[in-house]
Amino acid sequence: MSRVALVTGGSRGIGAAISKALQDAGYTVAATYAGNDEAAQAFTGETGIKTYKWSVADYDACAAGIRQIEEELGPIAVLVNNAGITRDAMFHKMTPQQWKEVIDTNLTGVFNMTHPVWSGMRDRKFGRIINISSINGQKGQAGQANYSAAKAGDLGFTKALAQEGARAGITVNAICPGYIATEMVKAIDEKVLAERIIPQIPVGRLGEPEEIARTVVFLASDQAGFITGSTITANGGQYFA
Ligand SMILES: NC(=O)c1ccc[n+]([C@@H]2O[C@H](COP(=O)([O-])OP(=O)(O)OC[C@H]3O[C@@H](n4cnc5c(N)ncnc54)[C@H](OP(=O)(O)O)[C@@H]3O)[C@@H](O)[C@H]2O)c1
Repeated sequence: MSRVALVTGGSRGIGAAISKALQDAGYTVAATYAGNDEAAQAFTGETGIKTYKWSVADYDACAAGIRQIEEELGPIAVLVNNAGITRDAMFHKMTPQQWKEVIDTNLTGVFNMTHPVWSGMRDRKFGRIINISSINGQKGQAGQANYSAAKAGDLGFTKALAQEGARAGITVNAICPGYIATEMVKAIDEKVLAERIIPQIPVGRLGEPEEIARTVVFLASDQAGFITGSTITANGGQYFA
């Protein structure tokens, strides 16, 4: 029986590439999303991967959704915490709401999704938790005090939980992507991309979602069992943590 992998925000962008790569690697994949039904339906139509709608910011919804997926597909062996949002503003203009939404989704959401799968992974003596953080959680970014704080928090969470999971066969790792060619980044004005963003990236291009996805597939594998508590930087040389 193939292992079950759950990818949050797995219907679009980097998450969609992760879901597809895990499916190609032989996993039974479930993808969650927040509200874009159209994209989720198109994704399921294209890939056959089941999609489930709830907010990672809601603990009870996470626990119920995970129960449903485990009943339908089997115990979750791999959890990829990929769902994330931005609510950018310079700090003097940032509202408590912008702060809260980003912390609730990008940091508390990782707790909310990991907590309900943790006991089962401990009982089965196997698990893989892979958290998608960000270069901006490592270096900080003006206009993203909320996002940088949440993504840095994900790295602390990763390191602490790696220590707790080690003897139970559970690895916990983080990936910090730099600029990746998702719809969001490709929507940036071409001139801004060419003159201001690409020159900051030593390899001279944006990353591809599939490059993050391949890293996830490796971390999920049995071969990566000695790697835990790591932060893998995937940013084309833009920043060395
Ligand atoms: N793109 C980059 O360059 C970049 C760089 C560094 C790090 N990252 C990180 O990589 C991850 C994926 O980014 P992306 O650019 O692929 O994002 P994206 O294209 O905006 O997709 C985000 C996905 O997360 C889902 N989502 C958002 N809020 C959610 C919530 N509360 N509950 C459940 N699902 C939720 C969305 O669902 P809907 O489809 O329903 O909206 C969507 O499936 C994020 O954590 C992001 O911070 C991205």
